[in-house]
Amino acid sequence: MNKQPIGIFDSGVGGTSIWKEIHNLLPNENTIYLADSINAPYGPKGKEVIIDLCIKNTELLLEKGCKLIVVACNTATTNAIDYLRANYNVPFIGIEPAIKPAALQTKNGAVGILATKGTLSSKLFSETSEKFASSVIVIEQDGDGIVDLIESGKLYSEEMKSLLRGYLKPMIKANIDYLVLGCSHYPYLIPILIELLPKHVKIIDSGEAVARQTKAILEQNDLLNTESSIPVALGTKLEFYTNRNPAVMKELLGTDFKVEFLDF
Ligand code: SIN
Repeated sequence: MNKQPIGIFDSGVGGTSIWKEIHNLLPNENTIYLADSINAPYGPKGKEVIIDLCIKNTELLLEKGCKLIVVACNTATTNAIDYLRANYNVPFIGIEPAIKPAALQTKNGAVGILATKGTLSSKLFSETSEKFASSVIVIEQDGDGIVDLIESGKLYSEEMKSLLRGYLKPMIKANIDYLVLGCSHYPYLIPILIELLPKHVKIIDSGEAVARQTKAILEQNDLLNTESSIPVALGTKLEFYTNRNPAVMKELLGTDFKVEFLDF
């Protein structure tokens, strides 16, 4: 049994969507979440800058004693996970757009992907897309501006709706039946997307798959916290840190959780 925490980091608050899936599947695990919101979005940044930011986040989580690190950011995963795996001794779980299940399940032969520029232009994404989706039409859309609006607390705003309307237009025109959310911030858009998309379009994100993979890797490495007799609410330590305004993350997590400012 291993009680050390699972570390999770993202360019901001969006990775809390991944944290929720991990906490649902592994309620006994202690977790430490880092939102690097002061540097959000990572999407438009260059690979070297993204790697440096990932190093900073990783080293802080390792100082805090994490046994495994979840890179809960598509842009960070596609640009930096190889570097992290090669340079640190803990297991890393990444998040990638679920292009494979969408391409396998589409009946219309057309799928949409909404992700950051950093993810769409990465080698890992183009290789995955070529390998699994070469026989379908893939409408790629850079979600420029979405992360900034979420990070500034404007998730349910008219500005967000009109941005999304524009981004979805070419996808609706191409008659997509699957929309892949390729950024950990985007699951928070689902209620708005449902409103804006035709009813037949299914939305896929990667949160559950990341949680399952986290569990599998903990099991394989004998790192699970199996102290199941302790009631979760009493025995589990869940820490959330942000280097920007804690109020934005508090709103997404709900009032049960304490979010602390940390200058990192
Ligand atoms: C970003 O920081 O640009 C978005 C995070 C992500 O790609 O998941």
